Amino acid sequence: MSEIILEVKNINRHYQIGDHDLHVLKDVSFQIEAGKTVAIVGPSGSGKSTCLSLTAGLDEPSSGEILLCGENLQKMNEDQRAELRSKNVGFIFQSFQLLPTLTALENVMVPMELQGGAGKETEAKARKLLEEVGLKDRWEHYPNQLSGGEQQRVAIARAFINEPKVLFADEPTGNLDTETGRHIEESLFRLNKKYGTTLVLVTHDNELAAKMQQVIRLKGGVICSE
Ligand SMILES: Nc1ncnc2c1ncn2[C@@H]1O[C@H](COP(=O)(O)OP(=O)(O)OP(=O)(O)O)[C@@H](O)[C@H]1O
Ligand SMILES: [Mg+2]
Repeated sequence: MSEIILEVKNINRHYQIGDHDLHVLKDVSFQIEAGKTVAIVGPSGSGKSTCLSLTAGLDEPSSGEILLCGENLQKMNEDQRAELRSKNVGFIFQSFQLLPTLTALENVMVPMELQGGAGKETEAKARKLLEEVGLKDRWEHYPNQLSGGEQQRVAIARAFINEPKVLFADEPTGNLDTETGRHIEESLFRLNKKYGTTLVLVTHDNELAAKMQQVIRLKGGVICSE
């Protein structure tokens, strides 16, 4: 049996808006094996992004437990979670979130800088990753000198720089035209194979979901099928 890289046990997430209680995730449980490709799908507002943030350790559940890379996120403090994320997790946001004052190359190197040092080796690796996502001649470009699809590819290269065990992506192709979206997908699948990175992504795209090995369907905060 393969190693379980992510285990979600009976998680609930409530939001308190005034005196109104919003129960967004309801007793959600699932497991993901290392190296797998997984889609989280469901209608708008069904809790997909909430679920992704929780499993990536960016948010905390109201109850339940999440084990990421064998570590219980609920037994860690914020610093410990940050360290686990910086070593094992990559995250791609729908809105790219590149730093505008840094070049493409510098943006890709950021996670290593945060880990306390990015030397020549990191730079070489960043160049290689940019090459792998088809941006060999865009190293010196700033985000506002790149197209949307190119910015998204920089975000992918950045997410892979620390060779994460798990990559979480929230609608990584949601803002892109179909063809550019397919290129992004190819980059993700290629890097998944090359580095053995577990891929967990939220998508509204049925064609993309069909290419994943596991599909988790959310509806009204409940898992309706796997
Ligand atoms: N910080 C918050 N405070 C209050 N309610 C929130 C918060 N974040 C999300 N919600 C609510 O939780 C529900 C689920 O939100 P979530 O972003 O997880 O949906 P989603 O499935 O990702 O939807 P979409 O496909 O539109 O991105 C929504 O009804 C939303 O209004
Ligand atoms: Mg969402």
